[in-house]
Amino acid sequence: MMTRLTLRRPDDWHVHLRDGAMLAGVLPETARHFGRAIIMPNLVPPVVTGADARAYRDRIMAALPKGMDFTPLMTLYLTEATDPADLARAAAEGLITAVKLYPAGATTNSQSGVRNFDNVMPVLEKMAEIGLPLCIHGEVTAAHVDIFDREQVFLETVLDPLRARIPALKVTLEHITTSQGIDYVANASGDIAGTITTHHLMINRNHMLVGGIRPHYYCLPVAKRASHQQALRKAAISGNSRFFLGTDSAPHTDETKESACGCAGVFSATNTLSCLAHVFEEEGALDRLEGFTSLFGPARYGLPVASQTITLEKRDTAVPYPAKIDTGAGPVTLFDPGHPLYWHVLDA
Ligand code: DOR
Ligand code: ZN
Repeated sequence: MMTRLTLRRPDDWHVHLRDGAMLAGVLPETARHFGRAIIMPNLVPPVVTGADARAYRDRIMAALPKGMDFTPLMTLYLTEATDPADLARAAAEGLITAVKLYPAGATTNSQSGVRNFDNVMPVLEKMAEIGLPLCIHGEVTAAHVDIFDREQVFLETVLDPLRARIPALKVTLEHITTSQGIDYVANASGDIAGTITTHHLMINRNHMLVGGIRPHYYCLPVAKRASHQQALRKAAISGNSRFFLGTDSAPHTDETKESACGCAGVFSATNTLSCLAHVFEEEGALDRLEGFTSLFGPARYGLPVASQTITLEKRDTAVPYPAKIDTGAGPVTLFDPGHPLYWHVLDA
């Protein structure tokens, strides 16, 4: 039985670090294990221009504890007012790695997102020309569409027509939660990849809703039925380089989660690697973990694979993860997979 696993240092291809006291509180949790991460731009107000991205990157680096080695890969939040020239300049300067598309109203702080795709065609055409990837929150927002169908409907009514309009656009379908999303990414022609979160590999909607409502499992896209969770697991361990890790670790304070109208987001930065080793071991696929966490993402984004490594060790005693992370903004509950985790990440 394998009890030690050395991986190239992982990257997180989708994370929310927030700003201010929350940023200071959660950044060490990501930087401890991950060398790089794609930083979501859904601040209030959002990161829209190259200047915004530069200022946010500087705030992240200022919040990074001394001695930690971490590179934030910045994104711009696509709005109908985004200036293609500003975006192209930011990309040429190496300031941004991708652009994020939130359909307006899809999730936390997405009011500035896209309503009419005609209005962003010049930006998307510019991105296709310069090879800048579009990271997509793939859910429709129309009120009549059932929340459990929103990803599937997005594939058919938005993503596929959009890719037909701009076939050269590099697309990352983020935090896939359905078998339809997996099938789309696996089978589509052209330049497409998909990220999968830690929590969607470990929970389905029963975990969230049976025996009481668990607000810390509520996120968007919402967890689907178990058969979809199985499809995600199969894709993650498949060795198909189109699928890689984006944790979507998204901190909210307990006060805002444990509420009559709780915020969407699961905070998993701290224990993601222990969780993933657990999942991949359950699936008999520990040898595929490194591709998912450390190899396929850099290949997709044209970045070098990390030169550093991290080592995980399976022990008889559970990893003593805290239930919450105390941040200056308030306590943030850590993702609880519902069972102990035995894969320890060893100190470098
Ligand atoms: O659960 C989520 N939380 N999904 C998102 O798309 C946004 C994120 C957040 O920013 O809290
Ligand atoms: Zn997210």
